[in-house]
Amino acid sequence: MGVVKIPVIESIDILLRPFTLNDAEAMYNNWASDSEVAKYLSWDAHKNIDETKFVIANWIDQYNSTSFYHWCIEYVPSKEAIGSIGVVHINHNENSAEIGYCLSRSYWNKGIMTKALRLLVDYFFSETDFDKLVSYHDNDNFISGKVMQNAGLPYRQVPYLLLKAVESVTVPLQTFLGESTTVCVLH
Ligand SMILES: CC(C)(COP(=O)(O)OP(=O)(O)OC[C@H]1O[C@@H](n2cnc3c(N)ncnc32)[C@H](O)[C@@H]1OP(=O)(O)O)[C@@H](O)C(=O)NCCC(=O)NCCS
Repeated sequence: MGVVKIPVIESIDILLRPFTLNDAEAMYNNWASDSEVAKYLSWDAHKNIDETKFVIANWIDQYNSTSFYHWCIEYVPSKEAIGSIGVVHINHNENSAEIGYCLSRSYWNKGIMTKALRLLVDYFFSETDFDKLVSYHDNDNFISGKVMQNAGLPYRQVPYLLLKAVESVTVPLQTFLGESTTVCVLH
C-alpha cells in the first residue's frame, strides 16, 4: 500500500490537519512544555522549543515516507494549534489502530477532545481499512476514559498484566477500548 496522506478534517470550532514547523511555538507554549499534560503520556514535558521543533520535523518526515496518521488540532476562532491526536501504534495482525491524544490545559473541559475523537472515528471507519480502533488510559486518568466513551467506543477493562496480550483477544465489536494501569502512549 502507498503512503496515505491524511486529510484536513473540518468542523465548526476545530480543524484537524497535518502539523507544520510553524506550529512549534504554539505546541511548545500550549501543551508540550506542560508537565501536567504529559503526566500520563510516554514523553516528558519539553524543556525548550528546539525539542518541539525536532519532534515536529520528525513527524513531517513521517508524513512523506509512511502512512502516518497524526493530526494537529487547530482551534478555528484563533487559528492556533492547541493539541494533537492520532495513531500511536498499528497492529497489523489485528488490523487495528491505537489512538492517542493531548490538549492544551486552557482548552480542557470544553468538549474539544470528544469532538476530535468522534471526527477520527468517522474518518477511520469510512475512509480506511482498519477493522478496529483501540485506546488505553491510565486508571487515574478517568477523564481520558470519558472522552473515549463519549466518542462512542465500547468500554472494556483490561488488567495490566493482560495488556500485552489484549491485541490478540477476539472482540465481537469493530471498536473497543481497554482500560489499564499502563499509560496511554503518545509520540
Ligand atoms: C484527556 C484530555 C484529552 C481531555 O480532553 P477534553 O477536551 O478536556 O475532554 P472533554 O472536554 O471532551 O471532556 C470529556 C469528559 O471529561 C470531563 N472533563 C474534562 N476535563 C475535566 C476536568 N478538568 N475535570 C473534570 N472533568 C473533566 C468533561 O466534563 C466530559 O465529561 P462528560 O462525559 O461527563 O461530559 C485532556 O484532559 C488532556 O489533554 N489531558 C492530558 C493528556 C492525556 O491525558 N491524554 C490522554 C492519555 S490516555
